Amino acid sequence: MKSQDIRKAYLQFFESKGHLIVPSAPIVLKDDPTLMFNNSGMAQFKEYFLGNGTPKSPRIADTQKCLRVSGKHNDLEDVGFDTYHHTMFEMLGNWSFGDYFKKEALAWAWEFLTEVLKLDKDRLYVSVFEGNPAENVPFDQEAFDIWKQYVSEDRIILGNKKDNFWEMGDQGPCGPCSEIHIDLRTDAERAAVSGRSLVNADHPQVVEIWNNVFMEFNRKADGSLEKLPAQHVDTGMGFERLCMAMQNVTSNYDTDVFTPLIAKIEEITRLKYTSNEVKNISEEQNKTNIAIRVIVDHVRAVAFAIADGQLPSNTGAGYVIRRILRRAIRYGFTFLNTKEPFINKLVEVLANQMGEFFPEIKSQQQLVTNVIREEEASFLRTLEQGLQLLENVVAQNKGTEVPGAKAFELYDTFGFPKDLTALILKEKGMSFNESEFDAAMQEQKNRSRAASEVSTEDWSVLIPGNVETFVGYDQTENEVRITRIRKVDSKKDGVLYQIVLDNTPFYPEGGGQVGDKGTLVSANETIDIIDTKKENNLILHFAKQLPENVNAAFVAKVNTDLRTSTSKNHSATHLMHLALRTILGTHVEQKGSLVNPNYLRFDFSHFSKVTDEELRQVEASVNAQIEAQLQLGEYRNIPIQEALDKGAMALFGEKYGDTVRMIEFGDSKELCGGIHVKNTADIWHFKIVSEGAVAAGIRRIEAITGDAVKDFFTQQENALATIKETLKNPQDTIKAVVSLQEDNAKLKKQIEQLLKEKAKNLKGELAAQLQEVSGVKFLATQVDLNPEGAKDLAYELGTLGTNLFLVLATAEEDKPMLTCYISKELVAEKNLNAGTVVRELGKYIQGGGGGQPFFATAGGKNVAGIKEALEKAIGFIK
Ligand code: ALA
Repeated sequence: MKSQDIRKAYLQFFESKGHLIVPSAPIVLKDDPTLMFNNSGMAQFKEYFLGNGTPKSPRIADTQKCLRVSGKHNDLEDVGFDTYHHTMFEMLGNWSFGDYFKKEALAWAWEFLTEVLKLDKDRLYVSVFEGNPAENVPFDQEAFDIWKQYVSEDRIILGNKKDNFWEMGDQGPCGPCSEIHIDLRTDAERAAVSGRSLVNADHPQVVEIWNNVFMEFNRKADGSLEKLPAQHVDTGMGFERLCMAMQNVTSNYDTDVFTPLIAKIEEITRLKYTSNEVKNISEEQNKTNIAIRVIVDHVRAVAFAIADGQLPSNTGAGYVIRRILRRAIRYGFTFLNTKEPFINKLVEVLANQMGEFFPEIKSQQQLVTNVIREEEASFLRTLEQGLQLLENVVAQNKGTEVPGAKAFELYDTFGFPKDLTALILKEKGMSFNESEFDAAMQEQKNRSRAASEVSTEDWSVLIPGNVETFVGYDQTENEVRITRIRKVDSKKDGVLYQIVLDNTPFYPEGGGQVGDKGTLVSANETIDIIDTKKENNLILHFAKQLPENVNAAFVAKVNTDLRTSTSKNHSATHLMHLALRTILGTHVEQKGSLVNPNYLRFDFSHFSKVTDEELRQVEASVNAQIEAQLQLGEYRNIPIQEALDKGAMALFGEKYGDTVRMIEFGDSKELCGGIHVKNTADIWHFKIVSEGAVAAGIRRIEAITGDAVKDFFTQQENALATIKETLKNPQDTIKAVVSLQEDNAKLKKQIEQLLKEKAKNLKGELAAQLQEVSGVKFLATQVDLNPEGAKDLAYELGTLGTNLFLVLATAEEDKPMLTCYISKELVAEKNLNAGTVVRELGKYIQGGGGGQPFFATAGGKNVAGIKEALEKAIGFIK
């Protein structure tokens, strides 16, 4: 079966068992501070297990793009070296939210594998949780008894907490699990060693393919377990491993998920990859294989992350993506000898292969390719620079051990991993101090851990079972009760309290728009709300302190001044998005947005600078929409298909529900949850203040609206008034400025001329002042010239004859400067050096400098020291 068909078969099977099939959530998570990337199929459903919301259906199935490169589940460093771990992989999953439990889950898993896919039952092993008395979780007798109906007891393995108790992270939903493992070894191998003994033993051909988790607990902040209100099923099957089993191969990389990518690398590099069936390969070939596996794995992770809106960057999720890509580039650079960008060329293959099921990769192929190409080019330059630096390090430490700190600097600044540095040094018969390197690394880790430390307490629930409602589209003030409170302590923000209300008018940060600020007011006290954010399904109000009486009745009041300004910027963003697509083309897609009370910032795909003329047109178009006084059209809860049919723009990397909110101003229609003006006339005016590049193929525009535009014009007006006044109020200011510039240019020329003449005169004067000292023609004096003039003068005097030793000082604009000129024969015969002279004399003017043996200069800070410097100059020839 082809991989495409295996995926379809899974989804069809669970559809036939009453499951709703949903699309994969984006790979990058937006409102979950505990998780950067989707690391498992259940992440997007976490809130349902915790009871913070209700799913669309009690039975759901999908294939989820997952990334395990940070946090609790991190496989990055294994990838490439083995045949069955990946950074990005697809997880086939089926879920029951308080619906079916162990009996159905295990029966269907068995039915799908053995009856639909017809995998050999003799190759399958299952595991169940052995129990953990310390945590008061018993042996999973139920799962054991269910499995006994399908397999003989010797195929059931009891597993410990590490293998058979699944947790998403340090906190959150968790439970015992039951895994299915497959033994893909040859019959001879299977006869010699039982597969049972190889389960969970890191054998590359005896691997876990399916995990069935029985979600029953919530892991609390203090590490203890609490029972969840209902019992759920969360399953995950490794799609690539299943393809390996179905395609009769022994490596994920030998399945059609990877072979087209590998073929492309072979074509580009003219190197060969050998499949896992080829045994006894050379050391050289093994390295080539590893590098190719690294690259075909990593390009998938990076390409899908970019398509979901996560560009490589220097912080957070963007930095993780950058590091993955750099790991791939480096493996190519070192082992495939690729010195030019080439990984970007794999995107086309990937788009053709996966585009049918994941349209985001097809429609953004161009952008993804460009971004990867730019990243490759710039990192390859960095690698070159790093190599240069390494050459210097080698030269300085000839034959000795290189200090660990140097190797760490290479790692930290140039992205040279330890093994690359070791490899290059080894080729030169050298090494570096590993323990020093490790110490420096540890120190850096400690620093960054300390900086990002956050401790989150468990919720204290005041009113249980309440699901809060957002009323902020219609109200900015509302009577509320506090339902839960949590304390969060972070290095960055100190102690903050997160407050959840039974209903709230506060808009939580989202869709680029910042969260509302405001107050909670009771009969006796007022608490400032400094920010509002969404986490999973909860709206969190942030406060620096808690009310004394948390059970009181409060009025939640949004700061409407800030919100009104923000709404103008948000609506203007929509109008500008449409204007950009109309004027620049429909390749323009939103790639990032920030909307706050002061301004709006919009990142979008476009491959060249937006010209001044285009910017003017965009401004004019938005202002025309403002003048047209377009009424807000707000459609709440319309089916997503209806909105798309009406022409609404949806964004990749966003998670939309079945019903959506659509915002319409004339032809501008977007799926959006944000706050908007009632009529475009409320925006008053729109003004672009900057345009620039953020990354390859991504431009950024910053703009202002409303009062900010008034302030902007007032500032401009004031600046102009000041200019006029300074120019003594001319009739025509522009003409006055132009004539000022012309005068200036003329004067500059004249001054240059005059200085030249002055230098000529000075030359005569100074020539007369030359003293004979020990056979040398000597002069040390201050001249009224700029440093450039002093240099010219020194060279001029140099033409006068031999054996000249000159020190000229200048003090233009109170900056002392020494210029030393020594005739070549004095340099050669008397061993005099102008560089040494200025360095020594420079001390008197609190400065330093250098140059060549016959000409050098030094700048300083202390004009008063010139006299002494000149007096001391004679010492060099006496
Ligand atoms: N959530 C479970 C896993 O990722 C299924 O293994």
